[in-house]
Amino acid sequence: MDGQQLSQRGAWGSKVAFIFAATGSAIGLGNIWRFPTMVSQNGGAVFVLIYILAVALIGFTVMLAELTLGRHAQKNPVGAFEYIKPHTPWKLIGYLGILTGIFILSFYAVVAGWALGYFFKTASGTFKGKVTPEMSNQIFTEFSSDPIQVFFFFAIIMGLTIFIISKGVKKGIEKWTKILMPMLFILIVFLAVRALTLPGAGQGISFYLKPDFSKLNVAVVLFALGQAFFSLSLGMGTMITYGSYISKSDNLVSSAGWVSFSDTLIALLAGLIIFPTLAFSGQPGSVGGDALAFKVFPLIFSEMPGGQIFGTLFFALLFVAAITSTISLLEVPVAYLVDERNWSRNKAALLAGFITFLIGIPAALSTGGMEFFTKINFLGLFAIIFGNISLAVGALFICIFVAYIWGVKKAVKEIHSGNPRFNLRPLWAFSVKFLSPAAIIIILITLIKKIITG
Ligand code: PFF
Repeated sequence: MDGQQLSQRGAWGSKVAFIFAATGSAIGLGNIWRFPTMVSQNGGAVFVLIYILAVALIGFTVMLAELTLGRHAQKNPVGAFEYIKPHTPWKLIGYLGILTGIFILSFYAVVAGWALGYFFKTASGTFKGKVTPEMSNQIFTEFSSDPIQVFFFFAIIMGLTIFIISKGVKKGIEKWTKILMPMLFILIVFLAVRALTLPGAGQGISFYLKPDFSKLNVAVVLFALGQAFFSLSLGMGTMITYGSYISKSDNLVSSAGWVSFSDTLIALLAGLIIFPTLAFSGQPGSVGGDALAFKVFPLIFSEMPGGQIFGTLFFALLFVAAITSTISLLEVPVAYLVDERNWSRNKAALLAGFITFLIGIPAALSTGGMEFFTKINFLGLFAIIFGNISLAVGALFICIFVAYIWGVKKAVKEIHSGNPRFNLRPLWAFSVKFLSPAAIIIILITLIKKIITG
């Protein structure tokens, strides 16, 4: 690799910088909007428990596998597989990751755009005074079915994402996540305190944290694992890419631990905001989907003392969390174009961003903008295919590759650089070889069966 190529690639300034960036990728709409929705639709506290187990036993395993692979190869996902097993079909897993990243970003940025739109709506007082459920529904329908507004905010999100990514690893991702992540943490703690002091908060907490084991079933486990992959940004090579910028002297095990822990903590805190607030409005745990953030919340904010500020901050939080994730989604194809095609960062970010925008058009039109895309629920479809199935397939092959093709021994050698002891070695080896692949296969079969039988 020559000097110019190295400088195009970039590297993190420190271990903390990596942790901010990777945590920024992990924490996003998945934590604040999707996690509470999943909890409310899958039995409450039981889901929370299974989710924590899924993160600890499988999510952490795959995260460490991805980071190790990335740091060893110092390359994007396609380049990483090719580096270790040249001229084999394994690089297809890298290509699948790049495609998955572009497709996830295409709908993710649409939803992030809604958050930005709602930030302005709330700040300008749209939900001031008495808002009824019908009014709130209507405001969302009007907003999300208006192509001009949806495209405007979608384009802003994509523009910001392209701008940050074109600045590079240190001056783009690292600089911005260092500003945005502490902001996000302060906002979320503030909002949780506000929510926990609402009248009736206790009822929400009990739905959220008191497990009722009669609600445990296969679907709960299925969604918990899928949610863990999505939330931790696993299965599409984001962590291979972010891992490729880590220094050889950093401890990968503690890095993976920090990212998994912080992501889970923020998801749990998001629940502490959402369930007490739902209980306050008299509907503990009963609603989900886009309705949760965009229809029900404005309603609650309108009834709550200090609601306009609370609401504005909530959507600011959603927006900040989303941006640090959209940049990580775009970084995967960009790293590929820079490493493998020798493109400049600017050109790569612009082109990959523009293509993503084009692919996002049907998703942007699928909430009322155009009848055809609305009918087939294009956004929801993409979320299942790419946000669930594709990530699980990717995670499965990454485990198989690291455990059996590259080999645990060589992976451990890479981990030893920066962590010579690696006490968790037997547990990690067991999980990456047996537990994680087996669990993912079972989940995939169940998921596909479910889709076929409707
Ligand atoms: N982890 C992000 C979230 O929870 O919102 C979404 C995401 C980002 C998924 C990056 C996958 C990814 F590669």
